[in-house]
Amino acid sequence: MPQMNANLNHQFNTNLSRVQPTPIRVFDNNASKIPGIVKLTLGEPDFNVPDVAKKAAIQSINDNDSHYSAGSGTPQLRQAIANYLQNRYDLTYDADSEIAVTIGATEAIYASLFAIINKGDQVLIPTPTFPLYEAIVNLLGGEAINIDTSDNDFVLSPDALKKALADHDHVKAIVLNYPSNPTGVTYSADQLKAIADVLADTDLVVIADEIYSELIYGGHHTSIAKFIPGQTIVLNGASKSGAMTGYRIGFMAAPAELMKRIGMVHSIMITSPSDPAMAAAVPIFDSDDGHQATLDMKAAYEARRDFLVAALQKLDFTVTTPRGAFYVFAKIPADQGTDDVKFATKLAQEGKVAVIPGSYFGDGGEGYLRLSYATSMDNLKLAVDRIKDLLNK
Ligand SMILES: Cc1ncc(COP(=O)(O)O)c(C=O)c1O
Repeated sequence: MPQMNANLNHQFNTNLSRVQPTPIRVFDNNASKIPGIVKLTLGEPDFNVPDVAKKAAIQSINDNDSHYSAGSGTPQLRQAIANYLQNRYDLTYDADSEIAVTIGATEAIYASLFAIINKGDQVLIPTPTFPLYEAIVNLLGGEAINIDTSDNDFVLSPDALKKALADHDHVKAIVLNYPSNPTGVTYSADQLKAIADVLADTDLVVIADEIYSELIYGGHHTSIAKFIPGQTIVLNGASKSGAMTGYRIGFMAAPAELMKRIGMVHSIMITSPSDPAMAAAVPIFDSDDGHQATLDMKAAYEARRDFLVAALQKLDFTVTTPRGAFYVFAKIPADQGTDDVKFATKLAQEGKVAVIPGSYFGDGGEGYLRLSYATSMDNLKLAVDRIKDLLNK
């Protein structure tokens, strides 16, 4: 095995030293080594890819669909996405100039931020949230400004937004994620409108990560792009709604002038997404079978959520029923202290249940645990029994 020449240590992009390996992965990897552990750590569906999507991928392979596509994705998939945005969320985007298919929502987040951030630029990030945003901002030489939302039921209030804007001089963008990883909280149309009214008076770019938009239990998803489309980049994808995280299909939608810039970053980075994966995503976004598959998975998630929330409340965790995604963000019972890393470590080592400490999701997550219910009901029942045993010890 070759050893790296030690002199190369000086050759790296200095921004890399601002990024740490995500503690979520580290915690999950360590917990996974514990024999017999039940894992409620994963942020990905436990369902198989729907048949309609598998068949489309196989058809694409058999059709020798194996060439570079347009950088923004195949016309079929972009049209399917345009139809999806119109039909599901009443958003109008042109398939040719305002939509690009990305390698998961992850690449869409990266390309969007890359197109915006210069060294020292600030990005507002309501927390607790998905840690990738801050990591990418740091990697790009920007500065992430956390806005702790824990005292407002994990919802960004217009006043907190105004304060953050008044307190910082170099804010270029804001990242909003709803329904949220890790809290499962989502925004009503009125809440979004109130935030949009504040943002409309600024020249901030709004990065709206709506990857969990199809997983809303009761009510319907509204995008902030309904109110301020001219400054919003909508990010979404097939990973969660189509249970196809490994196919790596995401997308971004934005006004053509914005998309031109982000699309440049995107095509330089990836050339084009994979043909069979794009073919698989078409029916997820734009067919009755694909939609039904998502609805079936959603019904299963909802039943699991209801079970888990009720069970945790009985064990004296403080939990508000989350309206979206597949996470419960539970406050540790008062008699167990407030150190979430300590509690989660004990729960993994002694209770054999793996969950993610809330503080790993940024300011406001201290004292909480994120439990993913993207796992079977049997696993959830076992996990609850074990948590109960640990608390009774
Ligand atoms: C809020 C949020 N955004 C983006 C992603 C990444 O999505 P993808 O797998 O499509 O890259 C995740 C994955 O967990 C997520 O929770």
